[in-house]
Amino acid sequence: MPRKDHWDAVYTTKANDEVSWFEADPTISLDLIQQVSPPPSSVIDVGGGQSFLVDRLLDSGIDQIAILDISSVAISRTKERLGERAASVEWIEGDITSISNVGTFDLWHDRAVFHFLTERKDREAYLELAVKSIPVGGHMIIGTFGTDGPEKCSGLPVCRYDADSMASTLGNRFMLVSSQNHVHATPWGKEQHFFFGVFQRV
Ligand SMILES: C[S@@+](CC[C@H](N)C(=O)[O-])C[C@H]1O[C@@H](n2cnc3c(N)ncnc32)[C@H](O)[C@@H]1O
Repeated sequence: MPRKDHWDAVYTTKANDEVSWFEADPTISLDLIQQVSPPPSSVIDVGGGQSFLVDRLLDSGIDQIAILDISSVAISRTKERLGERAASVEWIEGDITSISNVGTFDLWHDRAVFHFLTERKDREAYLELAVKSIPVGGHMIIGTFGTDGPEKCSGLPVCRYDADSMASTLGNRFMLVSSQNHVHATPWGKEQHFFFGVFQRV
């Protein structure tokens, strides 16, 4: 099934809190975003889905926010939830592995998208766009399943990472600033081990 169809089907058939990656409050992402210094004035959330991160970023007063997702259903639902506030956000619908330009951002955030890129050419396309979109000195926060995390998500195979494997995957255009392991509890109480890394574009 094409990627877009898969994700549109997920968001059409499941409520926000019926997906394993649901979190009522994206605390770890927000904490890491606040730690990145100087505070970003522009953020892109890659594969934002229906995450509440956009609500919190709007609350925090960040002046340029873009949400990118392959699923038009997820984007429509999130816009609907935000109501008038949706107009303050740039919405980009597309596959991160085939978009050629999204503009530039101080901070690139990705929770649970990069790990779906199991083919090298897709990771290379993603990273080519990230390098183009984050100026030197900007940051990338990336959250994936950790090395002891699940082998699949949403029925799709994933790659799992730790600080060393992510640093070597990102290559010499990104420098590891900090990393941490995180245990996410799904809405049905199952633990999933995540890796979160903060990288600086060099
Ligand atoms: C596991 S969900 C995580 C959603 C969100 N980041 C969160 O933390 O709640 C993965 C998201 O990435 C999107 N996605 C998957 N593959 C993608 C791709 N190749 N390009 C853009 N978005 C993608 C999906 O539609 C979905 O919203």
